[in-house]
Amino acid sequence: MARKKKTDKKPIEQYDHKGKVRINNPPVGLVTPETDRESGKKTYAYDPHLDPQLQWAGKAEHTSFGVPTVSLHVHERIDPRTIIEAVRKQNGRPVQCSLFASPEENPPLREAIEFYKHKHNWSNRLIAGDSLLVMNSLLEKEGMAGQVQMIYIDPPYGIKYGSNFQPFVNKRDVKDGKDEDLTAEPEMIKAFRDTWELGVHSYLAYLRDRLLLARELLTESGSVFVQISDENVHHIRELMDEVFGVKNFCGIIAFQKTGGFSPTLLSSVYDYLIWYAVDRQKVKYRKLFRPRPQSMVNAGYTWIELENGERRRLVSKEINGEGPIPKGKRFQSSILVSAGASERGSAPFDFQRKVFKPALGTHWKTSHEGLLNLANQGRLLAVENTLAYVRYEDDFPVTEFTNVWDDTVRSTYAAQKLYVVQTSEKVIQRCVLMTTDPGDLVLDPTCGSGTTAYVAEQWGRRWITCDTSRVATTLAKQRLMTALYDYYELAHPEEGVGSGFQYKTVPHVTLKSIANNEPPAQETLYDQPFVDNSRARVSGPFTVEAVPAPVVKPLAEIEEPPSADVSLARSGETLRQAEWCDELLRCGIRGKRGQYILFSRVEPLPGTRWLHAEAETKPNDRGADSVKEDQEIYGRPQRVVISFGPEHAPLEQRQVALAIEEAQNLVPRPKIIVFAAFQFDPEAAKDIDETDWPGVTLLKAQMNADLLTEDLKKKRASNESFWLMGQPDVRLEKIKDEKDKGTYRVEVRGFDYYNTKTGTIESGGTDKIAMWMLDTDYDGRSLFPRQVFFPMSGEKDGWSRLAKNLRAEIAEELIEAYRGTVSLPFEIGENKRVAVKIVDDRGIESIRIVDVEDLPEKRR
Ligand SMILES: C[S@@+](CC[C@H](N)C(=O)[O-])C[C@H]1O[C@@H](n2cnc3c(N)ncnc32)[C@H](O)[C@@H]1O
Repeated sequence: MARKKKTDKKPIEQYDHKGKVRINNPPVGLVTPETDRESGKKTYAYDPHLDPQLQWAGKAEHTSFGVPTVSLHVHERIDPRTIIEAVRKQNGRPVQCSLFASPEENPPLREAIEFYKHKHNWSNRLIAGDSLLVMNSLLEKEGMAGQVQMIYIDPPYGIKYGSNFQPFVNKRDVKDGKDEDLTAEPEMIKAFRDTWELGVHSYLAYLRDRLLLARELLTESGSVFVQISDENVHHIRELMDEVFGVKNFCGIIAFQKTGGFSPTLLSSVYDYLIWYAVDRQKVKYRKLFRPRPQSMVNAGYTWIELENGERRRLVSKEINGEGPIPKGKRFQSSILVSAGASERGSAPFDFQRKVFKPALGTHWKTSHEGLLNLANQGRLLAVENTLAYVRYEDDFPVTEFTNVWDDTVRSTYAAQKLYVVQTSEKVIQRCVLMTTDPGDLVLDPTCGSGTTAYVAEQWGRRWITCDTSRVATTLAKQRLMTALYDYYELAHPEEGVGSGFQYKTVPHVTLKSIANNEPPAQETLYDQPFVDNSRARVSGPFTVEAVPAPVVKPLAEIEEPPSADVSLARSGETLRQAEWCDELLRCGIRGKRGQYILFSRVEPLPGTRWLHAEAETKPNDRGADSVKEDQEIYGRPQRVVISFGPEHAPLEQRQVALAIEEAQNLVPRPKIIVFAAFQFDPEAAKDIDETDWPGVTLLKAQMNADLLTEDLKKKRASNESFWLMGQPDVRLEKIKDEKDKGTYRVEVRGFDYYNTKTGTIESGGTDKIAMWMLDTDYDGRSLFPRQVFFPMSGEKDGWSRLAKNLRAEIAEELIEAYRGTVSLPFEIGENKRVAVKIVDDRGIESIRIVDVEDLPEKRR
């Protein structure tokens, strides 16, 4: 058979989780305040009487806790194969329909809005949001209790808290306590305050709550691993005893993280995995093996059987490698008796005309016939007056892993890291392989750069992962989208990956198998499936989801304080809103061309829930040039109402809809509605941009993250607190060249970037775009990108790396476009609308929808 050349064309495949389903949680575009009513809180309780138990400040008061039950909204449907199709060399093969394009996944509207009532085909899930909310939603809204096979948790280690937050996609040298390295993500600031600000006390409470929900999600044969360093390993072990029960402890694994350095005392080169089962008696466990290390061979296999059949001990020079080892088979002389004597079992045995007896108080490990079989097969060895069993090195060429993993540091690993606290793939891979089978569900509530999802995808497991950090989810998305995996041969291809793989096996010759004249048992190597090199494989389809923001309490709902000291009665978000109003009055909102919206008054607005303050503008001539253009806004006093986004989450679509509804009922009608937020959910920003209300102007104001973190920083980045934000500058046009005539093209020309270092909005550039996505047929439900671009990626990462390994499949000149800001030509879809989502280097997203019908005639 002709050998396949490296450049031969390969089909690009994905694994199919046949027969596995998930519930229809809502796509973001179909959510309305009515369809997404809040479902209250679920209360979880602890047993306060455990004995012994670990104590920390606040634990005694925290015997139960409530978690709001929220829906997880689907924002994107990513199918890497669809994206790769656009840059494939034409090969005449029919393009397979994506899971997300199938009618089953996109049912008619009537059915589509019956959330949580229908099931559809499984797709994996990357979720932006706090792990407690996510896990509670899986349990309460989606009924997923008992469905997860393995949970991997790699929380911040509970030390040097600041350095666990990576503020930029492309910056990994994060310093604890450095202002510019402090995260500006509202959710992360909350995570910091809630869970780490009180050091180990809040940290332990944070982790225990999450472990409790994790246990609920696990199936009865399920496992949980927590990754931790030596500073807190003892506390976490104790916590897990409390949540999972002492009897369900399965082990502590030490894995090497570094090669060593020189602190004042001993180098700490290992981190730990603490492993518990839901029920140790029922835990799923697949033994993993590795080749026997030479040190073990040298210590155990000290005999040799030469080619002429002669057997002798190796001399120490040979064992130490100081002299050559003669040709032959190494073996150990293994003990042939066990404790306890019996008349039959301890009977003398004749071997090579000599009589051997087991030592006093022992018996032979096998019967008389067994001994004869061993003798016939040359497996007995007389060592003076003792009879031994000959165990060859290759009787079982591998050895079981123990709980010390000393092979987990890769020399090139540091260079490949995407995320400051990224785990080595090998570590998570081993946990996945030990405790799950293909098709099983794996959850990681601490996604980071997505190592667990990446490994689960590689090994055909289903996965769900979440993280509060948008930087993390952006990195994970890129990593999963551009991953290329081996195609492992399936046990039963027609049944999909859930049928398992075809694995390599090794014989396990034992004393018993020889004594009984049986063929040796075969040991399965679960980490060595057969690879089909004629196929390439990419990640399967996955959805990108997010936890909706919590409801913001209106400022005017604050009760009048009984005392004169207002600040005593105000707390939390409402107090903050009062501060933000003062700040608006002090410095106004800065426009992009240097103009300002200043206010003569800013006050709480009574009687409304979604509009928090009202104000009146003060005409001014700061930035006078542009004032002419915006007379309505800057020229005369105008009534303004303000809706503040939440303190620790993006401002959401639902808030925009409800605030506009309230504004419509106000008398007199406001002229301007300002939505002010630390972060805008991209769909919400899009709705603000697209609302067409004659006579009323809707504005977005970015709030300075310093308003949230002043106490954590040495100094503010800037004195301004509010900036006007525009829409992304995106141009859609029909291509006129002969070659691509009739198709369309999109160019991203710029967007408003909030620079946290300088504390200002920078407009127009494209250099801070980490990723942008193009949906050429936007259905208004969630984004289904057909082309995805990583303008910041180099020639060695992102799509380029994938393209290099698929040289025969992918057209290089096309994939090059995936690093730029101009799309490939495309045909406009049935919906006649395109959507462009831009993600900046902080993971902040903005969306622009363009309707073909709205284009000027010459671009249509
Ligand atoms: C140590 S990192 C995980 C790194 C990951 N193992 C990898 O290989 O990239 C911990 C992650 O947990 C996330 N995190 C912390 N608190 C969280 C919470 N309450 N909910 C969700 N994610 C959280 C952090 O944003 C961070 O990305």
